[in-house]
Formats: sequence, structure tokens, C-alpha cells
Amino acid sequence: ALPPLVDPFGRAVRYLRLSVTDRCNLRCVYCMPQDMRFAPSPALLSLEELERVARAFMRQGVRKLRITGGEPLVRRGILSLFEGLSDGLRDGSLDELTLTTNGTRLPQLAQGLAAAGVRRINISLDTLDADRFAQLTRGGSLQAVLDGIDAALDAGLAVKLNAVALRGSTEHEIHDLIAFAHGRGMALTLIETMPLGDTGMDRADGFLSLAALRRQIAQRWTLADVAERSGGPARYARVAQTGGLLGFITPLTQHFCGDCNRVRVTAMGLLHTCLGHEDGTDLRSTLRASASDDALHAAIDGAIARKPQGHDFRITGREHPVRLVRHMSVTGG
Ligand code: GTP
Ligand code: 5AD
Ligand code: SF4
Repeated sequence: ALPPLVDPFGRAVRYLRLSVTDRCNLRCVYCMPQDMRFAPSPALLSLEELERVARAFMRQGVRKLRITGGEPLVRRGILSLFEGLSDGLRDGSLDELTLTTNGTRLPQLAQGLAAAGVRRINISLDTLDADRFAQLTRGGSLQAVLDGIDAALDAGLAVKLNAVALRGSTEHEIHDLIAFAHGRGMALTLIETMPLGDTGMDRADGFLSLAALRRQIAQRWTLADVAERSGGPARYARVAQTGGLLGFITPLTQHFCGDCNRVRVTAMGLLHTCLGHEDGTDLRSTLRASASDDALHAAIDGAIARKPQGHDFRITGREHPVRLVRHMSVTGG
């Protein structure tokens, strides 16, 4: 093993979010535009290259690996990547191998993921209303996600639901979402929308502060903060009435960059050390230039040495929209 990755602010990087495709079978309005352009296939890392990148990070101390997209389960052959990496779970070099998915392909893949050592998955679900779901995803089927959730639970996977907080929607549905998730033994995490890429949605109009939403939730449910963490940015509260966990991811109203432990690699092999910054380090050309991993490790070291202190997303400013050109779907968040 090599020395662990530590950035200039003393933060150890133990968590890699590895995107395996920028494609998705949905088109969430806060994530991508209707006519999103995807990377051409030759630009993507092969499954072997993705595994090589993951192993390089594991040698440098990464202990949590989350496969993301786009929608990771639309990538052909994806189960073989999980199977390939699962030896890290068996030999103790990885604490967790997991994914974030929109759930639609879980009826076909949940069993295989569980067999490959996945224990816990995050499924994105913003609404329980079929019409609203179709609107938010530009034509997606709510039932497909509900079937995916069933498949995951049937396969014995622990499920956490992710809901992006959206003004005009989440405040009306929050109680139903809590009851649905906790009623089935799933945690629910709420996420403030982040201004990545032009999607056609007005970020200022759509933004819902979780500070405000939490006050509304607390009028009906009793929330008790818990120290428990899941390795990501969420802070959790337990809901007394349900016994379930409610997570809050608050990049806008309450920074969490101080204890950042993660980086992400896109399906094209760009290493982004901060979600809130445009710059990336090209690992693909390094990978393809040599069969040895020395240059790869050096490139990773170099990028970590330049990891920014944090993002500077701001809530609004119709006049000064702070946002990146890159879309959320390129890094999977
Ligand atoms: P757990 O392992 O369950 O804690 O998952 P996670 O929250 O790390 O991963 P998930 O893919 O479910 O991400 C939930 C949301 O958190 C997504 O919207 C991500 O974009 C966002 N997120 C994850 N890491 C960061 C980060 O470093 N900075 C910011 N601003 N958002 C992040
Ligand atoms: N802001 C916050 N979360 C987003 N997601 C996608 N786009 C955004 C955005 N602009 C969420 C998805 C998924 C997770 C990976 O990121 O809904 O739950
Ligand atoms: Fe697809 Fe996820 Fe983006 Fe929605 S948020 S379009 S499900 S990648």
C-alpha cells in the first residue's frame, strides 16, 4: 500500500465516487437539459480501465467506493465491475462498495449487486406522485422506480432514498415521503439543489432551503439529531414517531466542506477533487500511456495536492448566477 491521500487542508481522502457513464434513462430537470449531449463511447473508460482506476485509489487509501453515473446501471456489463471489485471487500481493503441509482434497472440487477457484495444502496426518488414524477424526470415512470425499490429490498439490500428538495413540491410531499421511506425501513435524505450546468430550470425559483423545510418538518415530527454518519455529507436526525433516519445534505445553507473526504472520477477519466470547481485532472491519457500505475499514482497525488478548500455555490443571485458549466450527471454528484 502507498501513503494515504491527504490534501493541503489535512483532509484524508477515503471515498471515491466513480462515474461509469454520463448517460441516463431519465432527464431530471435539475440535473440535465432535455437535449443533453453525451460523451461518445470511445471517450469513456472501459470497464477494465474503471477497475484499474478504482484499484489505484484503493492502494492510496480509499476505503469507500461509490459507483455513480449518469445512471450507473445503464452501463453494459456493469455487474462485472462490481464483481471484479468485490475482492476488496473480502480482503478488507474496502469498507464499502455501493452505488447511487435512479432505481429503474434494479428489477434486473438488484440480486446480482447483492451477490457482488453490495449491502446498501442509495435510490433517487423526489416524489411519490406519478404525474409529478413524469414532469420532474421529463417522461419517467414512477412505477419503474417503485419496482426497483421492491427489488432492492427483496434482494436484502439496505436502501436509502435521496430526494432533491424542490420548491413548490417537496414541502407538500415531505410527510408522505417520510412515511413511505420509514414505513419500509429505509432512511430518507434530503438534498439542496446545486447549481451545476444549464438545465433549463430556474435555480433560484426551484431552490428550497433545508433549514426552512426542517422547521416545517419539526412541526409534525419530533427530530433528534444523531451523531451517526454514512460516510458522505449527510447529517442525520431520528424521527421519534417512525424510528427512521432523516438526512440533510445542505451545501447551500450549511457548508460541509471542512470534513470533505471524497473525490470523483468521471466516466471519461477526469478526476474532480471538488464538486464545486470546474477543473479536472485527465487520468485517461495517463492510464492509456502506460501499463504501469506509477504515473497514475503521481497524477492522483498531484491532483489531491491541489484539492480546493470548498465550493462557493450561492443560493441565488438572479443577477449573479454562480454555477458551473459541467452538469451533475457528468460526475454523478
Ligand atoms: P452515503 O454513503 O449514503 O452517505 O451517500 P452520499 O451522500 O455520499 O452519496 P449520494 O450519491 O447519495 O449523494 C447524495 C448527494 O450528496 C448528491 O446530490 C451528491 O451530489 C451530494 N454530494 C456528495 N458528495 C458531495 C460533496 O462533496 N459536495 C457536495 N456539495 N455535494 C456532495
Ligand atoms: N443538485 C443536487 N442534487 C442533484 N442530483 C442531481 N442533480 C442535482 C443537483 N443539481 C442528485 C440526484 C441523485 C444524486 C446523485 O444527486 O437526484 O439523488
Ligand atoms: Fe438521471 Fe440521476 Fe440525473 Fe435524474 S438526477 S437525470 S436520474 S442522472
